[in-house]
Amino acid sequence: MPRLLLVSNRLPVTVKADPRGVTVTPSAGGLATGLSGPHRSSDGLWIGWPGDVSKLKPEQLARVNQELAELKTVPVQLSASEVARYYEGFSNGVLWPLFHYLLHRIPIDVHDWDSYRRVNQRFADAVIAQYREDDLIWVHDYQLTLVPGILRKALPRAKIGFFLHIPFPATDIFRILPWREEILDGMLGADLVGFHTYGYLRHFAKSIVRTLDASFSIDRVPYQGRTIRLGVFPMGIDVAAFEKLANDEDVIAQVTGMREQAKGQQIFLGVDRLDYTKGIQRRLLAMERLLEREPRLRGRVRLVQVAVPSREKVDAYASFRRELEETVGRINGAYGSVGQTPIHYLYRSFSQKQVTALYRAADVMLVTPLRDGMNLVAKEFVASRTDGDGVLVLSEFAGAFAELGEAITVNPHDLDGMVAAYKHALRMPEEERRSRMRTLRERIQRHDVHRWADSFIATLEHMPRAEPLGDES
Ligand code: G6P
Repeated sequence: MPRLLLVSNRLPVTVKADPRGVTVTPSAGGLATGLSGPHRSSDGLWIGWPGDVSKLKPEQLARVNQELAELKTVPVQLSASEVARYYEGFSNGVLWPLFHYLLHRIPIDVHDWDSYRRVNQRFADAVIAQYREDDLIWVHDYQLTLVPGILRKALPRAKIGFFLHIPFPATDIFRILPWREEILDGMLGADLVGFHTYGYLRHFAKSIVRTLDASFSIDRVPYQGRTIRLGVFPMGIDVAAFEKLANDEDVIAQVTGMREQAKGQQIFLGVDRLDYTKGIQRRLLAMERLLEREPRLRGRVRLVQVAVPSREKVDAYASFRRELEETVGRINGAYGSVGQTPIHYLYRSFSQKQVTALYRAADVMLVTPLRDGMNLVAKEFVASRTDGDGVLVLSEFAGAFAELGEAITVNPHDLDGMVAAYKHALRMPEEERRSRMRTLRERIQRHDVHRWADSFIATLEHMPRAEPLGDES
């Protein structure tokens, strides 16, 4: 297998500095865990941002860099202003809400395109510095859409893949972006462009036809003398790792503790980064409506909502957090009592072990995003249910919906429909729960993250090498 150069905004490890010292800890998430296998076996490198290292003393930085090198990672350091403009301003202030169809979250005036372009150039420079002939380059996600195009100019014959982890929006949404041509042109620098679903691929294809006047046939795009292939690769999770954790003694003990503490209440669970795309607000409103309409359920159900802090310096995230906490307060004020509260809101990170225990303790898992590229939480819940029980309520606007049809599906914009789904979940007979879970488990076991990475890499590897323009051969 050729050497693999992985490129993503965030490295699979994050450096954190606090008064007690410096730690290098694994970054959570499917991207980090899923790609670690191919990263190791190809003896490749992972190029990305290690988090804020600006406050480290020189000797601490040297130690951290040494550790990062041992982990076969290459750090791209970002200055405070680059974090504010490229990461918070453009990637997460503009592209993120736009690609999730939430236009009202985009600021009226955007200044950060030049920083986005410059930082993409810096990531590309870091790749070029490491590149050896025959390497495969795999670039990830919306923060780095220009990198394939920059690389194609510098390394015309390199094999370059690009994978988008978030939705690609409908053309009428995408074309709002003043820099639409540059972004499409950047992504088309790759030989292979991958998406989670066929719907996203179709949107992308329509956008290039409309915006770049390019053509498109089945899965091929002829562009600037090359042929780019588009592909659908639904990302999975490391199922075996979750199953192992789910059967861990500590986890089982935690599950027993949580169930005892719930004193017979049925547990609804939400686990999300605190992000306005995740539909947390509507999930809570549906719970409020359920308690309002069904007084007999008061004191008999609880919703545990884990909200992992995320992108806190982006205004839209800070204001969303305030709205959410107000809603939690209102519902608990109205339907709580001295002995119990309906919403258990936990604003912090949890270890993989703790999250697995929560998945196993839950009766009903709520995954109700307004829009989500894939949503791996839905798959993690299913993987953790080695006991074969549990109900998944899933939004039809998550990429995972295409694969997890045995869930109770909801439109998060339809509050009455959500209330009906909650009731359906509470009433579902055990036999039906187990039969749905069995099918869901078989599906995620077959399509795990290793298969996802292997099939993308194999497709890229077997593509013909691009010939530079003007080449006679
Ligand atoms: C989403 C994106 C990833 C990103 C992750 C965490 O899943 O697709 O690219 O890494 O969120 O967000 P953060 O901004 O903390 O990296």
